[in-house]
Amino acid sequence: MPDSRGQRIADGHVIPEDLDLLESVAHYARFFLETPRPVHPRDPERLGQLLGGELPEEGNGEHVTLRRLVEAGESGLLPSGDSHSFGYVVGGALPIGIASDWLVSLWDQCAAVYETSPLATVAEQVCEEWLVELFGLPTGTVMGLTSGCTTANLACLSAARQQQLHALGWEVNEQGMRQSPPVSVLTGRNTHASGLRCLRLLGLGGQIAQVDSDADGRMDAHHLAELAASAPGGLIVCAQVGSTDCGSVDPLAEIASLTHAHGGWLHLDAAYGMWAAASRTLRSRLSGLELADSWSCDGHKWLNTPYDCGIALCAHPEPFSDAERFSADYLQTSERTGSDPMDRRVEISQRARALTLWAILHHEGRDGIARIIERNCSAASELAHLLEKEPGIDLLAPVTLNQVLLRIGEEDRTRRVVDTLNSGGACWVTPTTWKGQAAIRISVSNWQSGRESAEATASAFLQAYRDGPGDDAPGSDARGPGAA
Ligand SMILES: Cc1ncc(COP(=O)(O)O)c(C=O)c1O
Repeated sequence: MPDSRGQRIADGHVIPEDLDLLESVAHYARFFLETPRPVHPRDPERLGQLLGGELPEEGNGEHVTLRRLVEAGESGLLPSGDSHSFGYVVGGALPIGIASDWLVSLWDQCAAVYETSPLATVAEQVCEEWLVELFGLPTGTVMGLTSGCTTANLACLSAARQQQLHALGWEVNEQGMRQSPPVSVLTGRNTHASGLRCLRLLGLGGQIAQVDSDADGRMDAHHLAELAASAPGGLIVCAQVGSTDCGSVDPLAEIASLTHAHGGWLHLDAAYGMWAAASRTLRSRLSGLELADSWSCDGHKWLNTPYDCGIALCAHPEPFSDAERFSADYLQTSERTGSDPMDRRVEISQRARALTLWAILHHEGRDGIARIIERNCSAASELAHLLEKEPGIDLLAPVTLNQVLLRIGEEDRTRRVVDTLNSGGACWVTPTTWKGQAAIRISVSNWQSGRESAEATASAFLQAYRDGPGDDAPGSDARGPGAA
């Protein structure tokens, strides 16, 4: 028989008022982590009612507010930390990550400069050393921590722009972009929209040309060579280490040598794929990684840090900090450390996310990280193997890392299977379009996802696929052959 506190949890009253506020949250956290739940929001329609209403004139008690928030969470959160959560590229949160992130909130450091947080600054320096070693990057590579891969892309690409224009005798910080020499940008066709967004923000939007990709989504190095040969002005090439749809890795060594032969800068968006470098067996799939000039990735994807944690890395400290550096009379920047965290990113104030990153790296070590990566990659291969045996299901690209890309029919059918899977709560997957065709992506990025999740997901998937009407079944609006 549950004790009174257990009973209240079972009744959904999960915030005990006889504990103080922080203990109550710890209590709820245990309940949350131990309670299996469907991989979809339970009742998002209630959110407006639970969170909305007038701004209170007088505040509420702490427990009242906390209980309301927990109720809203239980109604409207997507359990993205579940081992059957495969949508977008959403990792979970390792327990050590959650615990250390609580400390980040508790200590509430402003991780801008050494003076505002020696703790965060030194932790960030250590993470820089550790990650440069883990990823096998050139000695002297510097790191900035950001809110995500998009802002990491922004930091890296602004360094690329700085350096390329400087080489043409143009100082963008002083002279701006209005009459600057051209900088050509070459990206793969499968480049994530985040990089394109940053290029637009940097005033380079009109100067982007797309390089063809091969059948598996990898950048075509011959086409890159052609475009680079006729590209005016400076050159920035953006390549992918793990494309979002299928996990393909561009031919990095070839791309690096072509880019550098033209005096260009190679930036790699390695939002999640970068972590495969931790595995001694998978590292060869990223061959040439270390030859780039800058890299962006996320902790909150495959490393399974809690949200959020973006990482910008640059082999050229000078343009990197020249692009970001600024001063203000009131800011006590540090003589002691040479540079402050805010010099290597766009954000000034930010939470001390280095502490969470440090805690995960310290706890897992290289081997622990490699085990997560290898477990997920094996699960992705297993899932692909189980699904592609089914007539009518095609694997659209080889499983390079942890992404599985499948075609199961026309768009309507694809949507129906996705909806059946997601509304049933057995797993969460997301649709996409691949070379003009409807497809489903399965991203195995949660630290707990292994063989068991692959098998359970394959059987739920096959059931949804077999039970649903086919593309030309009555009642389906799919357009069969000969349809108008
Ligand atoms: C390859 C790639 N780059 C960049 C991003 C953007 O990352 P963030 O949402 O952390 O800004 C994503 C997100 O899924 C991605 O898959």
